[in-house]
Amino acid sequence: MTTTKQHILDVHNFRYACKQFDPTKEVSKEDFDTILEVGRLSPTSFGLEAYKILVLQDKELRCKIYPHAWGAQKSLEGASHIVVFLANKQADLRWGSDHMEHILRDIKQLPDDVYGFYQGAYTNFGENDFKTYESERATFDWACKQTYIVMANMLTAAAELGIDTCPIEGFVPAELNRILGDEAGLFDTNHYGISVMASFGYRAEEPHRGKARRPMDEVVLWK
Ligand SMILES: Cc1cc2nc3c(=O)[nH]c(=O)nc-3n(C[C@H](O)[C@H](O)[C@H](O)COP(=O)(O)O)c2cc1C
Repeated sequence: MTTTKQHILDVHNFRYACKQFDPTKEVSKEDFDTILEVGRLSPTSFGLEAYKILVLQDKELRCKIYPHAWGAQKSLEGASHIVVFLANKQADLRWGSDHMEHILRDIKQLPDDVYGFYQGAYTNFGENDFKTYESERATFDWACKQTYIVMANMLTAAAELGIDTCPIEGFVPAELNRILGDEAGLFDTNHYGISVMASFGYRAEEPHRGKARRPMDEVVLWK
């Protein structure tokens, strides 16, 4: 691994929330596959992978969500790839659900003793510590948190490849769940809801402003 500290900072300074994408430029399959692979390799709480990545390239569906996605309109006009992050709902995150069994038994192939440990730790986490079982909303929000880690890694990977991105929360989840889930049937809304979106492409112009951030001593607390 040969990367320099300056390279890391350069990549993070290159990344900005791109407002104007060049509609004539497409991210190559090879680059996008790499970005997806970085997403797939991301950590998730308990390793439960409580998410799916929907790559929305269908022009008709992009037009349908446009009026309900005010923060994505510039992206929808010019970005090469639009990604919709889906988070699992409580139905999939209850102990013993098909999703949990698939992850723990098929994917992780946990031996019985570790599976038993998981059951205790996960139940205590959900009921007492983080209280993720408290409500449908609490469970879903916890799953949504996982998607932000996946998204962040994908944004950084894109920046490494010289690809621009924009994270997007500027949309009406209920409308997009209806259009993409219930109507288009891309996912079952009993099991998934939309968490956040991101666009990938190439900037049509340089950012208008430099980075505006609090100074380090305002951000970090040392003791
Ligand atoms: C979770 C999240 C949601 C965001 N939603 C939008 C959005 O809907 N539309 C948009 O243009 N920018 C959006 N942004 C971009 C932020 O406004 C931007 O990241 C922030 O102002 C810092 O600027 P920079 O990313 O260019 O450094 C979002 C950023 C994050 C992290």
